[in-house]
Amino acid sequence: MRVLGIETSCDETGIAIYDSRKGLLAHSVYSQTEIHAEFGGVVPELASRDHVRKILPLIHNVLNDASMTGRDIEGVCYTKGPGLVGALLIGAMVGRSLGFAWGVPTIGVHHLEGHLLAPFLDENPPQFPFLALLVSGGHTELIKVERFGHYQIIGDTLDDAAGEAFDKTAKLLGLGYPGGAALAKLAESGDSSRFQFPRPMVDRPGLDFSFSGLKTFALHTVKKYGPQAYADIARAFQDAVVETLMIKCRRGLQETGYQRLVVAGGVGANLALRKTFHEALTLKQNISLYFPAQQFCTDNGAMIAFVGCQRLLSGEKDDLNVKVYPRWPISELKINRVNLA
Ligand code: KG4
Ligand code: ZN
Repeated sequence: MRVLGIETSCDETGIAIYDSRKGLLAHSVYSQTEIHAEFGGVVPELASRDHVRKILPLIHNVLNDASMTGRDIEGVCYTKGPGLVGALLIGAMVGRSLGFAWGVPTIGVHHLEGHLLAPFLDENPPQFPFLALLVSGGHTELIKVERFGHYQIIGDTLDDAAGEAFDKTAKLLGLGYPGGAALAKLAESGDSSRFQFPRPMVDRPGLDFSFSGLKTFALHTVKKYGPQAYADIARAFQDAVVETLMIKCRRGLQETGYQRLVVAGGVGANLALRKTFHEALTLKQNISLYFPAQQFCTDNGAMIAFVGCQRLLSGEKDDLNVKVYPRWPISELKINRVNLA
């Protein structure tokens, strides 16, 4: 089956064509970050309007890149939630309309299921079951993935998401928005021994996270030491987030008895995180680690096309209602039968 995937849950317009036999055939992501940068965060109305402007030309280009027309598409998949309601509606309306026009089924996909299963776009995907750490701008969750469609959240953040903490701390350091990647770059030249930030919640039992205290710790350090210390602060902050995430993952792996860990979402692109996880979990504990390719860590249409394709193949499809879900717990997802294709 060959499907078109559409992602518009936030400030990226992602389009892809995925074939269940041949894999990913073409994809493209347009990021609106420049539009939102001057406001220091995503402005929902501007996001919706820009999706309207970009979505059809992008679909046209991706079809061209795959040397295809709408007649070659056998299903349309779009992100149905969670996310910004206006932005989600653009992808849903365009996806449903194209499905109607082309006479093919459509399916609304859970954005986080897309992130979780993004490593399946790779040549060496994980086997089930596995533990997943989902670390993005809006989420920090440890999820027990028994098999496709069966997700149990066993750890969650009590306040800021990891990416949100990166972005807020980056802002303190004058790095603009979204500053996660820029903070990581600055941290490369920082001295890891100068400041010691706390590792929140690691001395308590359980798998939950809390990152808002780290941002406050960074604020006090910035005020006390000033711009000359920014690289060292970035390094201390990143070390604290990464080590905290690693400790909770190690605990989650112990509790579930699983030997495989998937790290998905934008913060999974962080190279210091990848290195620390490799050393602590793979080298020391023989855990198999799976990261999506860098381009599929952040929001993209390929992960939506992949998940939607599996669900369409399992016999699911939309009814005539067009609905989106700005809030939608992943634990509510189910699927009856599926053989990953
Ligand atoms: O998954 P994603 O693209 O969007 C959401 O669904 O939220 O994740 C975006 C988040 C942002 O907070 C961004 O700053 C962070 O991922 N991020 C990073 C890095 N690259 C992106 N954080 C730390 N290090 C990075 N290299
Ligand atoms: Zn995302």
